[in-house]
Order: sequence, then C-alpha cells, then structure tokens
Amino acid sequence: MNNFYVTTPIYYVNDKPHIGHAYTTLLADILARYHRALDVPTFFLTGTDEHGQKVEKAAKEHNMTPQEQCDTTVTRFKELWDKLEITNDDFIRTTDQHHKSIVQKILQDLYDRDLIYKAEYSGRYCVPCERFFTEKDMDDDALCPECGRGTDEIVESNYFFRMGNYQEWLIDYIKTHPDFIQPSFRANETLGFLKKPLADLCISRPKSRLSWGIELPFDADYVCYVWFDALVNYISGIGYGSDDAKFAKWWPASYHLIGKDILTTHTVYWPTMLKAMNIEMPEAIFAHGWWLIGDSKMSKSTGNVVNPMDMAERYGVDPFRYFMVSEMSLGQDCSFTEEIFITRYNSDLANDLGNFVSRAMKMIARNSNSKIPQPGPETDAEVELKTAALAAVSKMRDAIENMKLDRGLDAVMNAVRAGNRYFEQTAPWKLAKDENPERLNTVLYSAAELLNIVSALLSPVMPLKMCELRNSLGLDSNVNINQFNEWGTLKPGTEISDPGSLFPRIDTKKSKEQSNKKQPQQSKNSGKKSDKDSKSENSAGLITIDKFFETKLKTAKVLEAEKVEGADKLLKLQIDIGNEKRQIIAGIAESYTPEEIVGKIIIVVANLQPAKIRGIESQGMLLAAKNKKRLTLVTLDADIPPGLSVG
Ligand code: MSP
Repeated sequence: MNNFYVTTPIYYVNDKPHIGHAYTTLLADILARYHRALDVPTFFLTGTDEHGQKVEKAAKEHNMTPQEQCDTTVTRFKELWDKLEITNDDFIRTTDQHHKSIVQKILQDLYDRDLIYKAEYSGRYCVPCERFFTEKDMDDDALCPECGRGTDEIVESNYFFRMGNYQEWLIDYIKTHPDFIQPSFRANETLGFLKKPLADLCISRPKSRLSWGIELPFDADYVCYVWFDALVNYISGIGYGSDDAKFAKWWPASYHLIGKDILTTHTVYWPTMLKAMNIEMPEAIFAHGWWLIGDSKMSKSTGNVVNPMDMAERYGVDPFRYFMVSEMSLGQDCSFTEEIFITRYNSDLANDLGNFVSRAMKMIARNSNSKIPQPGPETDAEVELKTAALAAVSKMRDAIENMKLDRGLDAVMNAVRAGNRYFEQTAPWKLAKDENPERLNTVLYSAAELLNIVSALLSPVMPLKMCELRNSLGLDSNVNINQFNEWGTLKPGTEISDPGSLFPRIDTKKSKEQSNKKQPQQSKNSGKKSDKDSKSENSAGLITIDKFFETKLKTAKVLEAEKVEGADKLLKLQIDIGNEKRQIIAGIAESYTPEEIVGKIIIVVANLQPAKIRGIESQGMLLAAKNKKRLTLVTLDADIPPGLSVG
C-alpha cells in the first residue's frame, strides 16, 4: 500500500460526545497507528460538523449564538480525543474560513456548469435528520423513514444538485467495485436504495428558515445544505482547491469510516458529488454497526448515554480502547454494559496478559539478574510458542487489511494464552530450583520475546500500557511491525525493569458500588446480578439469567434462500432482522428446500461473531430442533415482524 488516508465522520456540535462517536474515532486512530507501524505514510482526519439546524437549535436552547455553541462544544470533542490518545493529523471545523471558501468554490463551479439549478420544491422535512423526503419516500403516516419521527410539510424555492444524472453510473460503479462499500451487505443496501429513481438533491436552505450555514455564492438569500457542506470536509481538509500537491498525496481516501446510519449520504450523495466535480472515488467506505446499551438504542431521553470520558477515567484509557475494538465485530451492532466491559477486562487483560507479563518479568528479574538471558537450543515447546507468536503477526496484518481488527486481537490474545500454557508446561520455577540454567534461560528468553512481539502488536490499541511494557523490556516504544516477521530479535543482555501491575484485576463488587453512584442507566438485562450469582455457571451446569441474556435472540424474516454449491446440507439465506439485512449459512438443506423457507419468520442468534462456512460469510445462526436427522425450525405462533427480541 502506498499511502493511507483515513477519515471519521465529522461530529455535530449540538451535544457532547458519547461512546458511538468515540468508537469511530478510536477505530480510525488504531488503523492509522497500525499503518504508521507498518511504515505506510498516513494521514488521519477528524473534525466537527458545525452548521445546520441541529446546531442552531442547540444554540437557542443554551442561549448562545451558534458560533458560541460550536466553540464550546468543539472543546468537549478535542478534550476527549486528547484523553483517548487520538493521533489525528488534522482537525477540521466546517466553520473554518478555509473550508467555507472551498465549499463556495465547488458550489459556484457546479452552478456555472448547470449541475445546480433553482426550482420550486414541495416535500416533507425531518428536523432532527435535516433531510427532505418526497411522498414516495414515506408511508401514509408521513413519519421520517430514517428516524420514525414526525415531519413538516414544506413548499419553497430551492437549489438542486443534479444527483439523478448519476444514478446509472453509480449503480454500475458499485457493482464493478466490490470493495467500494464495506461490508458487502451494505453495498446491497445502497443498491436497494438505488432501485427507486434517484431524485436531484436539494442543496440549499432559505435564510428565512435557517441562517446558520455557508452562504451560496450565487444567491445571498440561501445557505448551503449541511450535508453538502459537511461531506466536502474530506477533500477540503487535505488541500483540495488550495494545495494541489497535498491533495494528490492523500486522495483518494483509503477509508471513510462511518456509522451505518449515514450510509446513504456517504454512498449516494458523496460519490455523485465527487463524480460531478470530476474527482476520483474514495477507495472504500466502511459502515460499522451501532453500540447498543444492553439491547436498546442509546438515547438522551432514556438516559442511557455512556460518556467515554467517564469510562476512560474509571478504568483507564488503554483498557477502554482495547474493549471498544475487541468487543465489536466490525460491521455488526454490539452491546455495551459495564459488566461486559469488566468481564472482558478481567479475562483478557488482567488474567491472560497481565498475568503473563508479571510472571515473565518477575522470573527474569529474580533468575537472570534483570537481564534478557542468552537462550540455549530450542525444543518443541519453543517451536509451538514461536508458531503462535508469528501466527499472531500474520493474522494481525490480515486483520488490518481486511477490517477485522477484533479477529487480529483474538489472535494476539491466543498467543498470550499460548505463553501462559508454555509457562505451565516448562515450569521455569522448577528449572530454577533444579539448577538447570541453560533450559531456564531458553524459557525466559522465549517468554520475553513473546512479550516483545505481543507488545508491538498491541501498541496501536494500547499505546500507553504497551509503551510502559516495552520500556521495561529495554525496547523502543516506536514499533515497526515489519520487523516482527521472525522470531528472536530480542538482544540477550538487555536490561529490564519491573513494570508493576499493568492491569490490576477489577473487583466486581467494588466497581458495582462505584458505578451505582455514577453509572448511566444499564440495560434491563444487566446490573441485577447478586454477588452470589456473579459466577456465570455453577457446578450443576446451570447458568444465570445474565449469562442467558448475553445471547441476543431476534425474530428474522427469510428473504432469499439458495443451496450452497457442493454442500448438501447447507442453505445460504438472506434475512431481515429488523434494522438490517444479514446473510447466514444454515445446515438445514436436508430438511427444508429454499422455496419452503423463504418468507418464514425464524429465530436467530443476532450477536454471534461472523464466521466463514465453506468460504462464505455467515452472520448469525438460526434456531432449529433436531429429531434424529430431521431439523424443525423454531418459529412463532403468531404473525410477528422481524427484528423483535426473543427471551
Ligand atoms: N455530522 C454527521 C456526519 C457528517 S460526515 C460528513 C453526523 N454526525 S453525528 O455526530 O450525529 O454522528 C457521527 C457518527 O457517530 C455517525 O457515524 C454515527 O453513526 C455515529 N454514532 C452515533 N451513535 C452511534 C452509536 N450508538 N454507535 C456507534 N456509532 C454511532 O452524523
């Protein structure tokens, strides 16, 4: 890869940031850090979206001017990014003079080329989404098709961008560029949207209705529609129209990272705008899923909004960063509760990694005079450890390239667990007692080398803790992952120091008391555990209700079904689980034909990590009862829509 340019959405400054915003920015930061660690020139842009009705409304509520509202709220984002160790190369605000003049230049150019025209418009407008809809976009209830809230009838003269001109081109582009919209099921969503005729895009707002925006250069009575202004940040932020060399260096973007709710603006509006401007398309637009609180949407009205600043302060920046990327399988929705956080922290960071670090460093300090020892001959145990470590390197490289960071982290944690097993197997404490220095040195060297590799691979995710660990191993904290394709780079004789306890175990009881004082409202499925049942499984194999609710069951409608070639038992199903479409591979072809299953409402496990079955991605699992060889689908005894929770 030559250059890596990654962007986040620019965030509205009507409110303070929550974990949804923190997630996209963390993801971009981690990808940027990995690319820098692979020696790829990298540019990472984030910023704030400061115009439009939402911001104007928030300013009124706070008795401020819109600019004061922006200036106050932007600091909340900047402070959070500082706290979370975000390494963006620039921060763009759409109220920056530079950005405003580029937007005006683009508008003037499109107007001069008749790609923007004036016309009378009638439609319905959703204030929270800042989107117009025509009657054909909506059901009879006139509710917003995006958010489900009420809309207002509007008739006015406005300026339109000839977006409709590009419909056929866009369909063809998406079909011929399979990596353009990721994951691929999101490309299908956009293609679904493009089945209806694509209308021209209203890109103006009369100042009489909304004055907080960039003035149209050809009509001072209007300001620019906030989305048209905002999307331009991705090019104005890297020198488009002002610094040709900089723009040529970074464009096309490698990834626009977005949440799934802003798919249409990024995969329809933005590509058509770029096409009209004769600018190359970004390489990929990646839409991640949503963080849910338990199983409900995060919203101010339910009071369940999680503040990332609180999480980082309570549990540390690095554990919070690690949790966010390891827990969410990229592309899917994911559930956040403090219990899930603590469980993962205690198991991955305190038990597995923390434990291994502390054992290895203490043994080296005690038995090798705090110096990396000279290893002796390798045995099978070292070969196994080395294989796990090098597999983690190559899997992490794959994961970075294929946007599967959670899987890359799984591979690193597998290597850490291999390290703990290696200790059990080789028992260096016994070797020390038996006075077998050569073997002991080999074991301690191998443990330290594993830490060298693991800390390098985890640096982009946990920069602070891994810097501490690497410094205590006498290593540079600036890592170059390209160096880790082989085992044994650590130099014997290097002095080490004790890093102390990097990830002290979280006492669930204490943290519950603290979070009861401070914690935002948790999902109905969590936070009710008594201390007695905090162990999720007892000796009789019974599980607690909390354990059960970790599995998210949902109703789903089967939209399409086909046989998987070369696999007698498998059907490939396209299902609707309410707010999204998924593909699952199910082993039911001997009990159901594709025709029989299409249209059925079934029950699926919605939060299962996606897996490849016969090379095809499966994003969930359906429930069926087995009677000898015959499978019978679990269905419901009433006509129920897809997307409901079951349990
Ligand atoms: N200003 C627009 C983006 C313009 S980009 C040219 C915007 N801003 S936003 O502040 O409302 O949202 C920014 C991002 O946060 C979106 O990608 C959105 O999906 C994401 N999230 C908001 N809530 C979220 C979760 N609960 N979970 C994960 N991300 C979510 O949209």
